[in-house]
Amino acid sequence: MEVVILPGGRPIAVLAADAIEALLKNKPDAVLGLATGSSPLPVYEELEQRHRRGLDFSRVRAFTLDEYVGLPPGHPGSYREVIRREFTGRVNISPENVHGPDGQAADVPAACRAFEEAIRAAGGVDLQLLGLGTDGHIGFNEPGSSLASRTRIKTLVEQTRRDNARFFSNLAEVPHHVITQGLGTILEARHVILLATGAQKAQAVRDLVEGPVAAICPASVLQLHPHVTVLLDEAAASSLRLADYYRHSYDSKPRWQGL
Ligand code: GLP
Repeated sequence: MEVVILPGGRPIAVLAADAIEALLKNKPDAVLGLATGSSPLPVYEELEQRHRRGLDFSRVRAFTLDEYVGLPPGHPGSYREVIRREFTGRVNISPENVHGPDGQAADVPAACRAFEEAIRAAGGVDLQLLGLGTDGHIGFNEPGSSLASRTRIKTLVEQTRRDNARFFSNLAEVPHHVITQGLGTILEARHVILLATGAQKAQAVRDLVEGPVAAICPASVLQLHPHVTVLLDEAAASSLRLADYYRHSYDSKPRWQGL
């Protein structure tokens, strides 16, 4: 796991966008794993600017991590809608190349299996962007999630509903159920870039990077992945015991290595 501590959200966005741009240069039909929440928004803005300067997404395939169960089509809080509004609709990714879990499926287990199959059929995710919940969740894998889990229905922790209520008109409107890629699904992405900013994420970041691998902090499962990059601002990194070592490693790393 590589931990990179940066002065703020903007340099984080630039570095993440650099990794995506480098991937697309090598593989124009790359498969991107897209996250929602506030953390990836500066990355999407940076990619939109690069698209205006010529970065081409026309052959990109994209998979989202998760979705609320039961929101009507087009609901502004649904992740399908969020990802279209914030990113894929602003660059030239074809709508038919954007896939997400079906939060309206009558047969949820069948929809989850079909989603996993679609990821496999696309050749797997090349680069997965992740945010981090204040309780250590990734996607919507709440504490207690099986570290081997696949795409399935989950019940949200109340704190997560409160954290996400700002995207709805009130707390009561936030669904209790979601469909999320499992931790086992996320681990199959070839490169994972997790973004976290702000002091409210410091404890979850510490548990993810330096805690034991344990279902109480689902993100800690990323310690088992061979290629994870954790991009943090100073506040999110403020509880890390080895922060100076991470800074030194990144500052002295050979530039040809990239992320
Ligand atoms: C939601 C999403 C997660 C995201 C998390 C953190 O719960 N399901 O994928 O990482 O929010 O969001 P934010 O980046 O807004 O703090």
